[in-house]
Amino acid sequence: MKRARITGTGSYLPERILTNADLEKIVDTTDEWITTRTGIRERHIAADGEFTSDLAARAAEQALESAGVSAQDIDLIVLGTITGDYPWPATACLVQQKIGATRAFAFDVSAACSGFVYALDAATRQIEAGAVRRALVIGAEAFSRIIDWEDRNTCVLFGDGAGAVVLEADSGDSGVLATALHSDGSYCELLYQPGFGTRIPPTPDAIEQKLHTIKMQGNEVFKVAVRMLSEVALEVLDKGGVSVDELRWLIPHQANRRILDATAKRLGLTEDRVYINLDRYGNTSAATIPIALDEAVRGGQVKAGDLLVLDAFGGGFTWGAVLLRW
Ligand code: ACO
Repeated sequence: MKRARITGTGSYLPERILTNADLEKIVDTTDEWITTRTGIRERHIAADGEFTSDLAARAAEQALESAGVSAQDIDLIVLGTITGDYPWPATACLVQQKIGATRAFAFDVSAACSGFVYALDAATRQIEAGAVRRALVIGAEAFSRIIDWEDRNTCVLFGDGAGAVVLEADSGDSGVLATALHSDGSYCELLYQPGFGTRIPPTPDAIEQKLHTIKMQGNEVFKVAVRMLSEVALEVLDKGGVSVDELRWLIPHQANRRILDATAKRLGLTEDRVYINLDRYGNTSAATIPIALDEAVRGGQVKAGDLLVLDAFGGGFTWGAVLLRW
C-alpha cells in the first residue's frame, strides 16, 4: 500500500493585525487579561473583499511551490472550514477555480477546529486506496466574519488565516503512519453558530439577536478539550507503535495557551517539543495546525525522520490526531 506523504507546505495570514491594545478600545478587556488567560497577543483579520477562498488559494499556491508541483498535477482538494464563502457550494471548488486545478475534484470538510486533521485523514485514505496520487489539503477560516465584536468572551480569541499541504503517494517510510478521529454531537451547543442554517434562517429577529455569531461556554469547552487532546494523541501514538519519548513535535490546534500547557503536562512533554504560535495569530480554527506546521518546516525545526503528532479539538465536538514521520 502507498503511504501519503506531505511534500510541500504553505500558509497565508491577512495583512491587517489586530492587537490586544486595539481590542481594549472595542470591548471591556485588557491586554493583561487576554495574555494571561489565553496567551494571545495579536491576530490577523481579513480585509474587506478578502474571503476564505482567497486565503486558502494563497496558502495552496505556496504549498504547490514548495512541493515543486503545478495546480494541474492535483487530483483532489479537501478544505477544512466552517466559514466558507457561501453556505454552498463548497469553498474547495472556488479554490480549485482560483488556482487552476482543473483536473481535481474538490470538497469541504465541516469539523470546526478539527477540520484540517479530518481533511488530512480523508485525503490520506484516498491516496492509500490508490484512488488519487496527489492532493491539496487546506485549513482556512475567516472567523472575523462570524464573531460578535461586542462579546468579550469570544472576540478576543479568534483570527483569520489559512494553511495548506501537498500530500503525495509515496513508497518510502515517511508520511502518515496513523490517524484517529472522534466526535460527540451531545456537546453541540457548548460551541456553535445557532443561525443561519436551515433551522434558524436569517430573519430580522435572528439578525437582531446576532444568531449568526459564535456562541461558546468557554470553561466547559476548556475542560473537555484538555482531556480529549491528550487522549487522542496517546491513541494515535499507540496505533502507530510509537512511544511519547520518540515523538519530536506535538503540533496542536492553537486555541489557548493554558489548554496547550495542560495537554503537554498530561503527555509529559517539555515546552521544546510542543509547537506554539498562537501569541501571533490567535485561534484560526481549522487553519491553526497547517499554519504552525508550515512555520515549523520553513523555520527548520522539523527535520527528515522526525515523528510528529498533529492534534485537534473543536466544535461538534470533534477531535482527532495524525501521526506522521517527516
Ligand atoms: N476580558 C476581560 N474579562 C473577560 C474576558 C475578556 N476578554 N472574557 C471573559 N471575561 C470575564 C468573564 O466575564 C468572567 O467574569 P465574571 O467572573 O465577572 O463573570 C471572568 O472573565 C472569568 O470568565 P471565565 O469564562 O471563567 O474565564 P476562563 O478562565 O475560563 O477563560 C476562556 C475564558 C479564555 C474563554 C477559556 O475558558 C477558554 O479558553 N476556553 C476554551 C475555549 C476555546 O478555546 N474555544 C475555541 C474553540 S474550541 C477550541 O478551539 C479548542
